[in-house]
Amino acid sequence: MIKKIGVLTSGGDAPGMNAAVRAVVRTAISKGMEVYGIRKGYVGLITGDIIPMDEKSVSDIIHNGGTILYTARCPEFRTIEGVMKAKAKCDELGIEGLVVVGGDGSFRGAADLSAQGVLCVGIPGTIDNDISCTDYTIGFDTAMNTAMELIDKLRDTSQSHCRIQVVEVMGRGAGHIAVNTGAACGATDIITTEVPYDLDAIAKTMLEKKAKGKQNFVVIVAEGVGHSQEIASVLQEKTGIEARATILGHVQRGGSPTVRDRVEATRMGYYAVELLEQGIGNRVVGIKDSKIVDYDIQEALAMTKSYDVRLHKIAEQIAF
Ligand code: ADP
Ligand code: F6P
Repeated sequence: MIKKIGVLTSGGDAPGMNAAVRAVVRTAISKGMEVYGIRKGYVGLITGDIIPMDEKSVSDIIHNGGTILYTARCPEFRTIEGVMKAKAKCDELGIEGLVVVGGDGSFRGAADLSAQGVLCVGIPGTIDNDISCTDYTIGFDTAMNTAMELIDKLRDTSQSHCRIQVVEVMGRGAGHIAVNTGAACGATDIITTEVPYDLDAIAKTMLEKKAKGKQNFVVIVAEGVGHSQEIASVLQEKTGIEARATILGHVQRGGSPTVRDRVEATRMGYYAVELLEQGIGNRVVGIKDSKIVDYDIQEALAMTKSYDVRLHKIAEQIAF
């Protein structure tokens, strides 16, 4: 029976990470375990920035963005020396299991630590929804709603000025935020790395729509494509329609988590502790077809994620 576990958040933060930490801490305590909060991801595990947690240490956080445990990127943990330091710290404190809330990089670290005998369970937390073994990652819904509100505001001003508005949303390695916010905001064009695009064709269609009376054009660009200012300039040159570019940036990572993020974080946090309770480690928790699932970390990392090409095409086809 596992007696002591730790929990940390790692990589880019995401709204709902606090709800996951809360669920892990409260579930573990309800099962008679002791819980430590490890601050700044793997940095805290190496340096010993570790605090005991009780029921009250996670009070009043379920509605807050960010992460009370802080997060960090820790290059040292990519080395075997770093992993061994973390293992030594776990041994010193009697930590037998660890819940890691983060993305693929954090799960690679969790696999390395699992190999040294610390039971690790990963919970997908990233706004990008780019983790293959799960349909959903904590933070995705909140980030998309934030982006949607901002794009709606940009649409107002682009309509008043009869402009093209190019909006770059986050997603360094995947266009999931772009395709969904594009569909939700009625963007005329969605530019991601997953679907080929042609600025000549986009400009031509804009001019055809303009001839039929359309006044504003919202173009969503995924961060992985980038060059949004350049895309705006090219479209302006090709169409003669004034264009502006806006990069939404880190505002998409903040804010109070939506219902979906709080609930999924709660479900996955609870399940992660159930796995540790059974002495099961080296797993990643996920959601598939609305059900909670778990996979071996290496298997999870080897999976590939599909992009919703159909939604991409539909959104562009029905936009005017
Ligand atoms: P994310 O977890 O969101 O993908 P990162 O890729 O920045 O974010 O990874 C977070 C942390 O996980 C890194 O700073 C590092 O400490 C650890 N990590 C990342 N990749 C590896 C790896 N290949 N091996 C061991 N640890 C890793
Ligand atoms: O959380 C994922 C992500 O938002 C990516 O889309 C983005 O490229 C990256 O984080 C930027 O994070 P940071 O500025 O913290 O390195």
